[in-house]
Amino acid sequence: MPERAFVVAIDGPAASGKGTLARALAQASGLRHLDSGVLYRATALRLLDAGGTPEDTAAAAAAAHAVVDADLEDPRLRNAAVAQAASAVAAIPEVRAVLLERQRAFAAAPPGAVIDGRDIGTVVLPDADVKLFVTADEATRARRRHAELSAKGASVSLDEVREELRQRDRRDAGRAVAPLRQAADAVPIDTTNLDPAAMLAAALAIVGARRAVPGSSCDAGAGGL
Ligand code: DC
Repeated sequence: MPERAFVVAIDGPAASGKGTLARALAQASGLRHLDSGVLYRATALRLLDAGGTPEDTAAAAAAAHAVVDADLEDPRLRNAAVAQAASAVAAIPEVRAVLLERQRAFAAAPPGAVIDGRDIGTVVLPDADVKLFVTADEATRARRRHAELSAKGASVSLDEVREELRQRDRRDAGRAVAPLRQAADAVPIDTTNLDPAAMLAAALAIVGARRAVPGSSCDAGAGGL
């Protein structure tokens, strides 16, 4: 019997811990990992580098088409300006349509994948084997992102980081197409008081239980937990 891909969808707001969790979970479960936010950031960076703006829908869609794997490693993807532009291009349906196929293809290849983003459990992979919705309170998320940026040498205040997160959250959750929201069948994980090891333990318990269900990809030989 051909091996079936086991797919985990993780959604949540910026700096909720979903990226850290997704990476660790993929590694612990023998699955590949895709940070879908990087696709939107790479689209935004290509657009900005070409002198375009997110108001130019056709240029933004062309930028999404042009994204190649090497773009996903550009250190400028983490810049605040790129993050804001990513949130803006992510509201363009044509951009989302281009990136949707790429994400689904990634998930479909055995042994499967952990993909994190905003609309993975609701739109990209509505049939995912496991859906997690990762949250943390706003002050905690701002503190985490501020520490991350400071460690990289960026000089930005905690208040600025908090305002930037607030704006992005509002845009990501308020847009008409594929807004950030919890899928009805997603399991919530509040990471406000969890360190990365505790987050991973919580997620592994959920994934392990699903993979053990007869008929799931566990029986088809996917990397065991
Ligand atoms: O997760 P992140 O901060 O790297 O994402 C950057 C932006 O991309 C975010 O503000 C919203 C958008 N995004 C999205 O709309 N859908 C996804 N699945 C992932 C990210």
